[in-house]
Amino acid sequence: MTAGRLNFCNITALAPMVRVGTLPMRLLALDYGADVVYCEELIDIKMAQCHRVENQVLQTVDFVAPDDRVMFRTCEREKDRVVFQMGGMGAALLSDPDKIEAILKKLVTGVSIPVTCKIRILPSVEDTVSLVQRIEKTGVAAVAVHGRLKEERPRHPLHCDYIQAVARAVSIPVIANGGSLDMVKTNADIEEFRKATGASSVMLARAAMWNASVFTDQGPLPLEKVMEDYLKYAIRYDNNAYNSKYCLCQMLRDKVESPLGKQVQAAQTTAEISEAYGLQEFYQQIQSEQQSRKDALQTDSQPDHPVMDGDITTMAVKFERREYPPHITPKMFLLEWSRKEKLEQPLYETVQRSQDRAFQSTVTVAGKKYRSSLWSKSKKFAEQAAAVVCLRILGVPEGRIGEEDSGLVCKRKRDGKLNGTTEEEGSKKRHVVDIQQETDDTETAVVANGDHGDPDTPPERA
Ligand SMILES: Cc1cc2nc3c(=O)[nH]c(=O)nc-3n(C[C@H](O)[C@H](O)[C@H](O)COP(=O)(O)O)c2cc1C
Repeated sequence: MTAGRLNFCNITALAPMVRVGTLPMRLLALDYGADVVYCEELIDIKMAQCHRVENQVLQTVDFVAPDDRVMFRTCEREKDRVVFQMGGMGAALLSDPDKIEAILKKLVTGVSIPVTCKIRILPSVEDTVSLVQRIEKTGVAAVAVHGRLKEERPRHPLHCDYIQAVARAVSIPVIANGGSLDMVKTNADIEEFRKATGASSVMLARAAMWNASVFTDQGPLPLEKVMEDYLKYAIRYDNNAYNSKYCLCQMLRDKVESPLGKQVQAAQTTAEISEAYGLQEFYQQIQSEQQSRKDALQTDSQPDHPVMDGDITTMAVKFERREYPPHITPKMFLLEWSRKEKLEQPLYETVQRSQDRAFQSTVTVAGKKYRSSLWSKSKKFAEQAAAVVCLRILGVPEGRIGEEDSGLVCKRKRDGKLNGTTEEEGSKKRHVVDIQQETDDTETAVVANGDHGDPDTPPERA
């Protein structure tokens, strides 16, 4: 199934490949000259569970599973070029032509975009041809034929004669596939393969996986350049690190045990993979670009007035450390206020989301819950943001620089003067220590919720 009006005549395509055909590889193949790129095969039931997310930071559209895994990520660049593959795994459907026909008819009538089908061959040429003729009648836009039997391994010789027979028997474009091992090694071989099979188009899997520059007539480019180009896309589109690692190891092939290969294999994160290729600076640059975009989007899109989310009062608040004196935090103010009001001390509960490891905290004060709708980069910042929301809703000072002194937390503490020598200063200092100890108690309560303390309020000892 394709996302646009695609032409399958006289094209070169990146074949569907599980784990390999994710966004970075597809974009790389397009850059090098592929006309059409297939995604890895995805399971329909899993896709049906996904929700569609417009990812404004990456400028992609993501289909995200309930466990937050991105099942399919696409972007403008591959619009009208990408084929989304789904169906029974492997060649499961090949032995059930009625089901093939039913699925294709349903898709062709049910969607407004072209539908194509990829098959392996059947034991006889006649059966293969009649299956493809049946497929053609469903109204599909093209058929891709991998010229091997279901039981044959990729190293077995290709049955070009089957593809030829199919190409002669139908009028829709036939896309020849299966030539990577011994027929297509360089770009010039693609045309030879097309001629040898009599097909309209050619689809490459392994040749492209090993070196995607097979699609360019200026190639093949050195593998180092191809891997670097791949990794840049992987970084830019926040590709899953294990997926990037897998693809790079496929490219390295027999060099996978080289020092570089070993470094790639040992890497656990995209940052570590980038290091292996000397792309740390590029990685950092993309990270900071994405962070600024995230920040700008957060501030632009979130309302600064309270919004109820179930029983939780939320506001778009970000805790900015620089807005507070060094030893003062909103959490401290909230604690002091709660004590003054003879309330139980605030209780913080924090969650972390998997997609970007950001934190969001909810604080409960006097039985009411408060939280910031913005996610924070650390647990302590998330808690401070929740405290700010609570204080602002309650109209209680929060300790910001320039705020009128509320007396909630003593002035010397506000000024950061912690080591006074006069008696007066000493008593204030004791008060400061009290506050700190109370703050530490709060931290202990938070630890019960999985927290590990707040370095913004370092423990002082009298
Ligand atoms: C790593 C890998 C993953 C593959 N995954 C799929 C897939 O998801 N769907 C599919 O139809 N074929 C899949 N195939 C088969 C290829 O699309 C192709 O039919 C086969 O490799 C023969 O083409 P080649 O000689 O160009 O490699 C996969 C092949 C490889 C090497």
